Amino acid sequence: MSSTKTPQREVFVSRSAFIFAAIGSAVGLGNIWRFPYVTYENGGGAFIIPYLVALLTAGIPLLFFYYAMGHRSRGSAPLAYRMAHKSAEPIGWFATGIAIVIGIYYAAIIGWAASYMFFSLGDSWGDDAESFFFTDYLKMGDPGISFEFVPSVLIPMIIIWVIILGILLMGVQKGIARFSKVFIPLLIVLFLALVIRALFLPGAIDGLNALFTPDFAALADPKVWIAAYGQIFFSLSIAFGIMITYASYLKKKTNLTGAGLVVGFSNSAFEILAGIGIFAALGFMASAQGVAVGDVATDGIGLAFVGFPTLISQMPGGPIFGFVFFACLVFAGLTSLISIVQVPIQALREKFGLANTTSTIVVGGGMAIISLLLMPTITGLYALDTMDAWANNIGIVGSAVLAIVVVGWAARKLPILSRHLNAVSSFKLGAIWMILISITGVVLIYMLITQIVAFLTEGYGDYPALITGTWGWGMIAVLAVASVVLSFLKWPKKTLEDMNAAIADSVAEENHSNKNKGA
Ligand code: PFF
Repeated sequence: MSSTKTPQREVFVSRSAFIFAAIGSAVGLGNIWRFPYVTYENGGGAFIIPYLVALLTAGIPLLFFYYAMGHRSRGSAPLAYRMAHKSAEPIGWFATGIAIVIGIYYAAIIGWAASYMFFSLGDSWGDDAESFFFTDYLKMGDPGISFEFVPSVLIPMIIIWVIILGILLMGVQKGIARFSKVFIPLLIVLFLALVIRALFLPGAIDGLNALFTPDFAALADPKVWIAAYGQIFFSLSIAFGIMITYASYLKKKTNLTGAGLVVGFSNSAFEILAGIGIFAALGFMASAQGVAVGDVATDGIGLAFVGFPTLISQMPGGPIFGFVFFACLVFAGLTSLISIVQVPIQALREKFGLANTTSTIVVGGGMAIISLLLMPTITGLYALDTMDAWANNIGIVGSAVLAIVVVGWAARKLPILSRHLNAVSSFKLGAIWMILISITGVVLIYMLITQIVAFLTEGYGDYPALITGTWGWGMIAVLAVASVVLSFLKWPKKTLEDMNAAIADSVAEENHSNKNKGA
């Protein structure tokens, strides 16, 4: 079979380039600020059991699923879903839409972290890190509508977007892969130094005890299991369309399952390392304040921008520790952000037959402009929090449910995907893989329903319905409608030809490997 790769389509030159890029996407803020607290809240050491179960039975199997989707069709998310079934295309657009939303606000968080690298050096927050962050830095008041700019947030965000677009313009191999190859090892070294430093702080051991003391009774609580699945999903960047897009840049013959195992285990290793470092530091802070570790433990924005600054003020060598900590957030965040912005760039490139540079400038630039107009405003900050909650709890989970129900159950594509994975990979999958995907589907449906009910009955924090209605439900509704509308637009003939050629290549590969096996 002649190679029909188009000149337009980019590639990762090696499997290691892909692995670094995929780890770069997976290792993000979720590993550093989400995992430690989720573990602590959900049974401590005992949480490792549901966490590993979720990783092995849902996370890694779904990673394989998305790799196969992208690799077999050599297409972006919408195209890969269209390949699975004509009517499945909107699922790909929905995942792409979620990626756009997450990218728009994730850039803001990286921008804050960049500011805090420098704030750390001067201990800018004085002795009240909380009011410094919310009032002095973000200028947040009551939830409401105001589009007044907050320049202290705007400037670092502009820098972040310039870096991101610069890397993306360099292309998949020269930009994304090369950047990840440098910054992921750098991140690991810097983070390891932080963890070792934190372990030598007085009180560190109390923090580790708080994190790891197992509460086995927690295992009987379904919420703990949901938390484990949620963490694995977010952390592995599953169901955002990222893994489909990255796998589509791989060469025809690439060991997909082997790569998936490396990515899955590396991501969890980093996460556990982060748990140790963060809780060692929290143990120090609790003992310095004479309170229990539980009183200082939080996650997300509260941990990074209030908890850590307080800690930095209290510890010897705090400014340097702070600078490196926020630098780690910036590096981890940047390699994740490039992966998410590439999703719509590739999807719209294929749908509208755009040249590489054009789509990077138009789509990436468009996202940057929306992000820069919306996020550094007072309204934007409430929007950020709400979009984050809905995108992760409804959007990503919904996207994974649709993938399994439509592609797996209705269109019955699992056997073909499994055959594809086995034809190119060293680690072979059996029927157990398909069973695991189906069980994951059931678990996810349960998670999705529970979450929808919780948002409908309890709302979100004390946010007014106007905010949750627009940035939460409204955002999901707009994405759903846009996904269907986009699916009605015709694909360029050339894109479809390329896809058919890719599938023909894949089928040839699958048949070839089957024949060899039979011989
Ligand atoms: N796996 C990423 C994390 O743990 O932070 C999830 C992610 C978030 C990926 C945001 C990409 C992104 F832009």
